[in-house]
Amino acid sequence: MTSTSKGAAPDRLRTIDGYIADTPYPSNFHSSFQPPWTDWNLERRGIRPPRSAAKPFRYVDLGCGDAFGLIATAVAHPQGHFVGVDAMPEHVERGQRLIDAAGIGNVTLHCEEFAAAGSLALGDADYVVAQGVLAWISATARAALLDLAASWLRPGGAFTVGYNCFPGWSEIYGLQRLIVTLAQSARGSSVERFAQALETVRTTAIFPPSVWEWLDPLLERLPPAYFAHEYLNGHWQPSWSADVIAALAERGLDFVGQASAGRMREDLSFPSEWREALTAMPSAAARELAADLQSGTWYRQDIYVKRPHRRITASKLPAKLLERWWLLTEPAGQVEFSYATSAGTFEFDNAASRAIVSALGEGPRPLSAIGGFAPADLINSIDALYAARLVIPLDPPGKTAADSFNRLLREQGHDSGGVATAHGALPIDAASLEQLGEADLSRLGLIPGGGARQRKTPAN
Ligand SMILES: C[S@@+](CC[C@H](N)C(=O)[O-])C[C@H]1O[C@@H](n2cnc3c(N)ncnc32)[C@H](O)[C@@H]1O
Repeated sequence: MTSTSKGAAPDRLRTIDGYIADTPYPSNFHSSFQPPWTDWNLERRGIRPPRSAAKPFRYVDLGCGDAFGLIATAVAHPQGHFVGVDAMPEHVERGQRLIDAAGIGNVTLHCEEFAAAGSLALGDADYVVAQGVLAWISATARAALLDLAASWLRPGGAFTVGYNCFPGWSEIYGLQRLIVTLAQSARGSSVERFAQALETVRTTAIFPPSVWEWLDPLLERLPPAYFAHEYLNGHWQPSWSADVIAALAERGLDFVGQASAGRMREDLSFPSEWREALTAMPSAAARELAADLQSGTWYRQDIYVKRPHRRITASKLPAKLLERWWLLTEPAGQVEFSYATSAGTFEFDNAASRAIVSALGEGPRPLSAIGGFAPADLINSIDALYAARLVIPLDPPGKTAADSFNRLLREQGHDSGGVATAHGALPIDAASLEQLGEADLSRLGLIPGGGARQRKTPAN
């Protein structure tokens, strides 16, 4: 049951256990919560992923918002069953409208608070995800969310959790406290109160110019509802990574690594003195905390696996890694074989990287389709391309209703930043598909030759 303070005094905002509930959160899509992304992150670290081939699997999204990302993922993976849990009725209704309009049969949404959701008994999940929830909810709801993830996952299942963390948010912590306090005396919706509170703060010299230089571009770029949700939650509390790792370890979930592409290989992203300092850390929790302190991390996406889980035999690992499919995010001709890291510019202009880019320029395919190189060269090159965010791990093509779903998104003017393909869901606005030429559509696996499916002609 959802309990709200709906009937409270007119100058009180509607909340769910302190969470702002008068304004829906914007729709979102995140690549790093996609099953092939998680699978690559596990397998690259030698851990057996929860799925095998095109077998059925179960995926649960805790705090799914309006479930846009969950729904696009479900369309792209018809062999999976997808479940979203969110306490805000408007979110669940909005998601259900899209599910109904698109005629999708493999997603179920539940309107429920985490503290009461145990009775849903969604056990045996292969994947549980929670993006952008931990830092914004009460300590009770946070503990309930972690309990649900641990109890609903099957052994070997993966939990991906994205959250605001320290030390990055330290400088803004005071700003959030002041805004949430000012908003209590303001009037109107949470969006209006955020704007009023921010204007009040702006007239003061409490915060240094660096805070405004950071915040103003975000105000231009992100929708107003994001700020209402980020700044007006009464329980807003970023976490230290070590605390999250410890809380999940107590619940039987082992930390695997960060889902962020830049953190797969520290030798490709961290200066040597940082890496040296990390080798002195005796546990995963200490290591991650030290790395966050070194790099001033704001936000993490961590992958955990439920005990007991299985490792892949070392001798079999390279062949398995080569079977993974990849997509190139830029046209092959635009790829620069270098990227900027905390350690400086990293160059990876070599024959294997060029061969991968050239092959993926034609459409998604596995590394095993690229001949003439030792497995280690291909794997090292894909690591660098992944760290540079030039490639995305995908599935082999399957039969999906991606075309009609993407068409519906275009008709509805959805600009939520995600589309479905026969290989998985991708971070692209549906509207921008119209602007793409044949070569780009092929590279993205949206037409034959890209290894996927027919693009519908106007006649059909
Ligand atoms: C910041 S939004 C994240 C939505 C989505 N995961 C995304 O990344 O776009 C946090 C979500 O948690 C939900 N939520 C907040 N408190 C909750 C609670 N106690 N139980 C269940 N859901 C809750 C909110 O309704 C909201 O949709």
